Amino acid sequence: MTPQEIVDYLDQHIIGQSNAKKTIALALRTRYRRLKLEPALQDEIMPKNILMIGSTGVGKTEIARRLAKMMQLPFIKVEASKYTEVGFVGRDVESMIRDLVMTSLSMIKAEYNENNKEAIEHYVLDTLTRKLLPEPEHFSSDEEQAQYETAKIEMKAKILRGDMDASIVEIELPKGGIEFNDTNMPPEIARVQESFSKMFSVMGKEETKKELPVAEAKEILAQEASDKLLNHDQMKREALKRAEDGGIIFLDEIDKIAVSSRSDGRNDPSKEGVQRDLLPIVEGSIVSTKLGSIKTDHILFIAAGAFHLTKPSDLIPELQGRFPLRVELEPLNEDALYLILTKPKNSLLEQYKALLATEEMTLSFDETSVRAMARYAQRANQKTEDIGARRLHTVVEKVLEEISFNAHLHQGSTVTITEAMVNTILLPLVEDEDLARYIL
Ligand SMILES: Nc1ncnc2c1ncn2[C@@H]1O[C@H](COP(=O)(O)OP(=O)(O)OP(=O)(O)O)[C@@H](O)[C@H]1O
Ligand SMILES: [Mg+2]
Repeated sequence: MTPQEIVDYLDQHIIGQSNAKKTIALALRTRYRRLKLEPALQDEIMPKNILMIGSTGVGKTEIARRLAKMMQLPFIKVEASKYTEVGFVGRDVESMIRDLVMTSLSMIKAEYNENNKEAIEHYVLDTLTRKLLPEPEHFSSDEEQAQYETAKIEMKAKILRGDMDASIVEIELPKGGIEFNDTNMPPEIARVQESFSKMFSVMGKEETKKELPVAEAKEILAQEASDKLLNHDQMKREALKRAEDGGIIFLDEIDKIAVSSRSDGRNDPSKEGVQRDLLPIVEGSIVSTKLGSIKTDHILFIAAGAFHLTKPSDLIPELQGRFPLRVELEPLNEDALYLILTKPKNSLLEQYKALLATEEMTLSFDETSVRAMARYAQRANQKTEDIGARRLHTVVEKVLEEISFNAHLHQGSTVTITEAMVNTILLPLVEDEDLARYIL
């Protein structure tokens, strides 16, 4: 995707914030360009990590969420505040790299399955047919064999159509014991545990057979087919490679691990520990994972934070320097709020319409009523805390509360929200600061 295409895609869902969109789009494109260079030069080019700064509810996490959906690259979003310093109980920061690798692996798996769909389907169909219509030991005549072949073709058609979905077949369940997928576990220990579980599953060799309806057996057989037909070692290698070259980690709530210089000493020292642990990972180091070790040099980090109580300069200097690209997200004004209500695909208003449509009532909004809701949201943001677009949720919820509660009374009819209705509901709330604080 070109930078412009990425921006266009984000534009469908996120209003404004064009600076942030551009920076991210460009960073992604730069990595793509890098991959086309000769290896010696590739190693020289470090990704420029991004720090997004903007107050709460202006779309930081939303941008990450949308990117994640769109990307064909391994992408994870993690909260910086969830990690603890090495040596303390909790998740250490290296586990985010392991999570990224596992995400990459499931992506690659899905791609392999998709590319080998026909072979897998063929395997499933074949196995099921053999189970549902066992081949006789030998045929007494050619005629009988021909009959069997026809019956087989018919059976396949039936299975494909789903006519056999309810019939019961007996299949062997995959043995191999329990999967350990806790990425927080150091890989050495995870491997030991895995070999133990393999050992036990070999010792307890009796096949676990189970009777299942065909519909469920299809899924298990598809898994079995993928295990048998596809090259899992190659998948693992590709997964590592892709995470290494294309991985993106979105570090949300980075401000929560900054230590404010104003409140000296009273802070949790482990926050700084987490920052220090982050340094080598962001700068580039080697982390061992279940699939092998991975170099983190070229993983792109996008950090985001509101920085209400702290400033970017409250991060330890070494970490600040590792996020050279800074983008600020603008606070949302009334016009932006109005657009957020109406413009994105599946905007808030569309969501309510769809929800109420399930009760067979049609909900519609006057143009002016939408304007009014944006205006009240803006005013509530000014009077109390500015919580950005999240204010819209409470505002719209309040306006629609009664109607939503009594939806069954409006069955088969259309309810139109007018400006007057919005005024009646919201004016008293917004005017009274105390009420606004509690209700909106
Ligand atoms: N610019 C925007 N365009 C469209 N929707 C937005 C925008 N900004 C915020 N929203 C909506 O507001 C909600 C909150 O936004 P988001 O989660 O991105 O906030 P944030 O910036 O991460 O805030 P915080 O610092 O509190 O985590 C989301 O549901 C999102 O749909
Ligand atoms: Mg957020």
